[in-house]
Amino acid sequence: MDWGMRNRLAQLIQPDGRALFLPIDHGYFQGPTHKLEKPGETIKPILSYADAIMLTRGILRSSVDPTNTKPIILRVSGGTSMARKEELDQEGITTSVKEAIRLNASAVSMSVFVGSPHEHETLLNLSSLVNECEEYGIPAMAVTAVGAELEKRDARYLALACRIAAELGARVVKTYYCKEGFEKVVKGCPVPVVMAGGPKVDTELEVFEFVYDGIQKGSIGVNLGRNIWQSDYPVAMIRAIRSIIHENATPKEAQQIFEDVKSGKGRGAR
Ligand code: 5RP
Repeated sequence: MDWGMRNRLAQLIQPDGRALFLPIDHGYFQGPTHKLEKPGETIKPILSYADAIMLTRGILRSSVDPTNTKPIILRVSGGTSMARKEELDQEGITTSVKEAIRLNASAVSMSVFVGSPHEHETLLNLSSLVNECEEYGIPAMAVTAVGAELEKRDARYLALACRIAAELGARVVKTYYCKEGFEKVVKGCPVPVVMAGGPKVDTELEVFEFVYDGIQKGSIGVNLGRNIWQSDYPVAMIRAIRSIIHENATPKEAQQIFEDVKSGKGRGAR
């Protein structure tokens, strides 16, 4: 692997082999998502606890201070919207690799929609993106997306999607956690796997439990957004999650960190 590729991956995946990516890219098809209406405000208190942020070029330029030193994962696919839910799998490439390099991105990311009518186009888009990214030493992260079909998220489907993304050359794969068989998803994928959170769930503990379990089963960490920044206590949430990822905290210990930070006691992850 060339120096540039290794260096960029090292900016994202920390020396302990783990990663906490903070995605704020949701507006690219959802519009002004709840609590992400002003992305610059949303990330202000929590950015320092993330290892990287994932976002589009529009939000990067408009909402992130260029003196920010957090690595950028630039979303480079899109072209669809929630107004046409049945066409969410029709994403194309929206942003060039040249632009990603101009923006000093550490990686680019795009969605693939395995099992959807436009599976073929999105997989070929990933292949083309990887061809270009490899030329410049910039990692491509594949997002195994399901559009509005959240019920698709079982181990068999996720293993298929992750493996295909890796076979096509993604350097990192983002997928969903599933309770049954998640170890098979990770085992079948020869590149690092990070987990998305999906829509906000009812309790913090549910998040801590799935992050912990996913890591025990081989995931290197998360690319987790809504369950952090839609929380009423986003700092407590990200610090608790960080403790699981980088300090091997158990869900119970993470819950305690959450409660402490929430109540102002402030014990927490580094
Ligand atoms: C949107 C994305 C998001 O980055 C990803 O889903 C992670 O965010 P969340 O934890 O809110 O699901 O790729 O398509």
